[in-house]
Amino acid sequence: MTGLLERHIAAVTGGASGIGRAIALGYAREGAHVVVLDANGNGAAETAKAITGAGGKASSFVLDVTERDKCREVAAEIGATVGRVSVLVNNAGINRRNAFTAAPEAVVKDWQDIMAVNLNGVFNVTHAFLGQLRATRGRIVNIGSIQSFVHVRTPNSPAYTTSKHGVLGLTRALAAELGKDGVRVNAIGPGLIETPLNENARANNPELVRIFLDHTPLGRTGKPEDIVGPAIFLACELSAYVTGAIIMADGGYRSI
Ligand SMILES: NC(=O)c1ccc[n+]([C@@H]2O[C@H](COP(=O)([O-])OP(=O)(O)OC[C@H]3O[C@@H](n4cnc5c(N)ncnc54)[C@H](O)[C@@H]3O)[C@@H](O)[C@H]2O)c1
Repeated sequence: MTGLLERHIAAVTGGASGIGRAIALGYAREGAHVVVLDANGNGAAETAKAITGAGGKASSFVLDVTERDKCREVAAEIGATVGRVSVLVNNAGINRRNAFTAAPEAVVKDWQDIMAVNLNGVFNVTHAFLGQLRATRGRIVNIGSIQSFVHVRTPNSPAYTTSKHGVLGLTRALAAELGKDGVRVNAIGPGLIETPLNENARANNPELVRIFLDHTPLGRTGKPEDIVGPAIFLACELSAYVTGAIIMADGGYRSI
């Protein structure tokens, strides 16, 4: 199917790399004008260039999602220069795998940094685009995780787990509040997806991959492209009656 996102302007945070980059390219293939947002401005520009090079429509802006005022400024600039955003993908995220019992400095730093990006960042960007999303009866797609739930086999990292629970909570709270405005709010829960986020862990900790795969019915890790279909579905009219949901794209990890 093509053209599912014709006439939409879709902003994707963390669009320079991994899952965000794949979603940006996928949305552009469906006809959206994609606004690539990332703290890594060169990476964002490179994704936009890949889209326009393939005949699609894209713009890029440097945006650190932890900077609330900057989020407002950039959202206003996009509204004035590109147009009103009707699809927002809150994808920017970081992870570190220190246990709560690790060295206190590391635990405190993880907590502050991870919450700032993964949870406060979702708040900052969503709040900044709220007017545009309400005006367009738009859609919000938040990237959660299997760590939006707790599983005893999943290597834990309390800050990340808490941030991704928060993303699911915010998804449900906003779905409840914004449904009357026609704004749909959903999440995707990826499993272990091969991206730079977990490159070191995959290279240095084969046990981590084994734990995931032992529990994954489809028996493989995911690729960023595995998240694109669910992300298109939640942004387009095919999901017109879906809100407040989390779609797990995890090879079955959490379902079994
Ligand atoms: N890879 C996985 O296995 C996996 C699993 C579940 C959920 N996720 C989630 O998917 C999302 C994307 O992760 P990925 O695996 O593609 O990672 P990635 O590291 O490949 O990409 C993350 C992108 O976010 C950007 N970013 C980081 N901090 C930012 C900030 N403060 N402001 C703006 N941009 C920022 C980075 O520059 C990078 O381009 C994250 O929310 C992550 O938690 C990933």
